[in-house]
This record gives sequence, structure tokens and C-alpha cells, in this order.
Amino acid sequence: MSASIKDSVVVITGATGAIAKALIAELLARGAAKIYAAARDISGIAASDKVVPLKLDVTSEADAAAAAALASDATLLINNAGVNHNTALLAAPDLAIAKEEIEINYIAPLRLTRAFAPVLIKNQGAVLNILTILARVNLPIMGSYCASKAAALSLTQGLRGELAPKGVRIVGALPGAVDTRMTAGLPIPKMTPADAAKDILDGYEASEEDIYVGDMAKGLAAGLAHDHKAVEKQLASG
Ligand SMILES: NC(=O)c1ccc[n+]([C@@H]2O[C@H](COP(=O)([O-])OP(=O)(O)OC[C@H]3O[C@@H](n4cnc5c(N)ncnc54)[C@H](OP(=O)(O)O)[C@@H]3O)[C@@H](O)[C@H]2O)c1
Repeated sequence: MSASIKDSVVVITGATGAIAKALIAELLARGAAKIYAAARDISGIAASDKVVPLKLDVTSEADAAAAAALASDATLLINNAGVNHNTALLAAPDLAIAKEEIEINYIAPLRLTRAFAPVLIKNQGAVLNILTILARVNLPIMGSYCASKAAALSLTQGLRGELAPKGVRIVGALPGAVDTRMTAGLPIPKMTPADAAKDILDGYEASEEDIYVGDMAKGLAAGLAHDHKAVEKQLASG
């Protein structure tokens, strides 16, 4: 179970997204041997000697099983696909948004990890879940997303308990705001996807288990360690 990206074989979901694109560029710069760039629409993903487009809707059991069969050389699964409807828990008209966010942000990484577990155990590999600092404290204006990511943080811990004894490393990345389409409507300071990707992979290669990505995430994590309730109240007050 190496912490180095060099020579790794990576499967990354949601490969059409901004953070994924930056991660793919940074993975290649650090010497990854092969990247399966998985997305539900692969028409815009250019294949190369190191990039293999892979059709994968993370809500599909059949797609997950087919991906694991094809990518049997994978050493690192990056669960990156995600959705954020930027919706408060009671503002949503019904439960459709909550169900979609829990499906994409929690059930899908569980589905993909279950599908890839035999491969990752065989290859003594790793799982990197792209979470958010808001998995640790709820921001009520997007409370539904935060709840789904809190479930994904707990998933990350539970998988670590089950898979670490089998030689598979489980890592969570907790970024603050990153400038992607997901945060397009938010007038707050944001990291570039390239800086987020560098931070994520620096933490990964430094063998961290919980990677706080960027100043916002690091500041909130420090605040939570000092006074969890004060941070909860600060975010609730907007
Ligand atoms: N941006 C931020 O501030 C921020 C902060 C912390 C954490 N994150 C997390 O970082 C990850 C990437 O987000 P991003 O900011 O790069 O957003 P993004 O550009 O909107 O990318 C999201 C990706 O998820 C994919 N996706 C959604 N549903 C899918 C499905 N059913 N099957 C396969 N792929 C699906 C999207 O595919 P399509 O192109 O097909 O829609 C897209 O490629 C997410 O997990 C997000 O929660 C983001």
C-alpha cells in the first residue's frame, strides 16, 4: 500500500467535473501510469496512452460492476462525482433533492467501493473520497448537501475499519470552497481547482487520512477542534 501516485492506476468518477479535470492533470504530472476517467458522458474526454475514458453513471449497479471488471489493474479509486443543489432542508418542495444528494454523494461511493473492493484488496490499493469540510459542520443554506456529505464522511470511517485490515488505505479529502460550477452562485472566496488538486494529492502522498484542503477548510477544522458549537452557530447565522 504505497502513498505515492507514481505508477498508480487510478479510477476517478465524475471525470467531466472541474476538480476531477484538475486531479487528472495533477495525477499525470505526478507519474500515474493509467487513469480511467469515468463519467456518464464520455464524449468530451480525450483518450490517450494514459487516459482511458470509461462510461459510468455512479447510480448504476451494472456500470459499477462493468467498471470493476474492466479496471482490474486499479490501485486507487477516487470517488469524486457529486451533486449540490444548494438547498436548505425545509426550503426544498419535497424529498427529491435530499434523495438525489444522498444517492450521488453517499450511496454511489459505497456502491463503487463495494464493486472495486476485491480489485483493491488484490492490488493492495486505496480509496480517496472527495468530501467537503461541510461534512463536519452543517451550513444550513445547503443543509441537504451537508447531511449527505456527513454520511459520506461516516462511510469513509466505516470503510477504513473494514478495509484497512485487508491492506486497503481509505482517505477522505475535505475541501473548502472551490471555483467550479457547483459554487457558481456563491459570492465567497474560492480556491482554484488546480490548487485544490495539488493540496489533495500532497495530503494523499503525505499519508494523511483526513486531508483539509485550502485555508477555509483548515480554518474551519481548527475552529471545530477549539469550539465545535461556536462554528455551528457561526455557520447557522450565515
Ligand atoms: N466546488 C466546491 O466548492 C467543492 C467543495 C468541496 C467538495 N466538493 C466536491 O468535489 C467533487 C467534485 O465537484 P466539482 O466542484 O468539481 O463539481 P462539478 O464540476 O459540478 O463536478 C461534479 C461531477 O459529478 C458528476 N456526476 C454527477 N452525477 C453523476 C452521476 N450520476 N454519475 C456520474 N457522474 C456524476 C458530474 O457529471 P456531469 O458532468 O455528467 O453532470 C460532474 O462530472 C464533488 O464530490 C463535490 O461535492 C466540491
